[in-house]
Amino acid sequence: MRVYFDNAATTAISEEVIEAMANCMREHYGNPSSIHAEGRKSRSIIETARKVVAGQLNASLGEIFFTSGGTESSNMAIKCAVRDLGVTRILTTKMEHSCVLYPVKCMATQQNIEMDFIEMDDKGRLDYTQLEKLLQSSDKKTLVSVMHANNEIGTVNDMERISQLCQEYDAFYHSDTVQTMGHFPIDVDKTKIHFLTGAAHKFHGPKGTGFIYINGDCHIKPMIDGGSQERNMRAGTENLYGIVGMAKAFELACNEMEERKNHIENIRQRLINGLKENFEDIQFNGDWDGNYLYTVLSVSFPPSPKISMLLQLLDIHGISCSGGSACSSGAEKGSHVLQAIGHPADRKAIRFSFSHYNTEAEVDFLLDKLKVILPVQEVVI
Ligand SMILES: Cc1ncc(COP(=O)(O)O)c(C=O)c1O
Repeated sequence: MRVYFDNAATTAISEEVIEAMANCMREHYGNPSSIHAEGRKSRSIIETARKVVAGQLNASLGEIFFTSGGTESSNMAIKCAVRDLGVTRILTTKMEHSCVLYPVKCMATQQNIEMDFIEMDDKGRLDYTQLEKLLQSSDKKTLVSVMHANNEIGTVNDMERISQLCQEYDAFYHSDTVQTMGHFPIDVDKTKIHFLTGAAHKFHGPKGTGFIYINGDCHIKPMIDGGSQERNMRAGTENLYGIVGMAKAFELACNEMEERKNHIENIRQRLINGLKENFEDIQFNGDWDGNYLYTVLSVSFPPSPKISMLLQLLDIHGISCSGGSACSSGAEKGSHVLQAIGHPADRKAIRFSFSHYNTEAEVDFLLDKLKVILPVQEVVI
């Protein structure tokens, strides 16, 4: 038996998505930029997909642009805001994914942009008062780049509150919503945001496909030049099959959101209960019982002889999970997020992340394996 508890890294593509993509691959090969019938068909398929994505977010069609995923979308938002919108200051957090942190740091060193970090507590919760003070303290055109939910510890930030503050102080607001797209309702008509990012592979769609929402008021230029695709905003022949798969996956995720959420919450709670009942000195990272991403549970295990090998031992026993962010490599390296919340270096953080495909039996399997792996003295007898 293998158990996949690494859905924050990526998810399995659902059968309906595979079918939609395969049908499209079989039947449609025209270049969407060609003016003949095959090209026009591909173009109309892309526009139908755009309608699906825009509709679920309550956005206009002209505000959705297809990209290669979350990394490209966040790079685009940050770099284009500096280049085209007069942004000279960026407020962000130390728990952002590297696809935000790196471009922000890059803008600071290459473009002399002021970069400030919004403080947070040991659960990764933002200090909104300090954010307001930072916004108040400068006349510089500011971009606030704060993720919706953290991919390692699952803390969810208050999008509405950040949006209000950004409106009050006339700042641009970008949110990396890669972990929440298709998992939390997002309505850009209700909550004013300038840039949002999505990646299909986090909601059972294909890898290498994503999108960026750009509020109609933000007139930026493309980051990738060389063609007129995506209404001149992103050059290169469109990833037709990826886009079809993403739209299908997003539609399913949004339509089944409540049902999937309830199932996953149950799985997550079963694991929390099982860990608390069977093991001593277990802690949970992030705002795990407050404002949390229900697909993620970051567990902090106490020091013990085999603890540094826990991830590998779980893998050997048939369980796939992650030691923090799994986005950059399979190798375990120090997590900047755990460091930012002051997670003790002698404890071991393991991220279990779930999808609606997981079952209660899989949680029980994991608990049984942990009882075998962890030293006897850690098990409450
Ligand atoms: C919060 C977050 N942002 C961005 C990304 C990067 O997205 P992509 O893999 O589509 O480039 C990831 C993980 O992959 C993520 O977890």
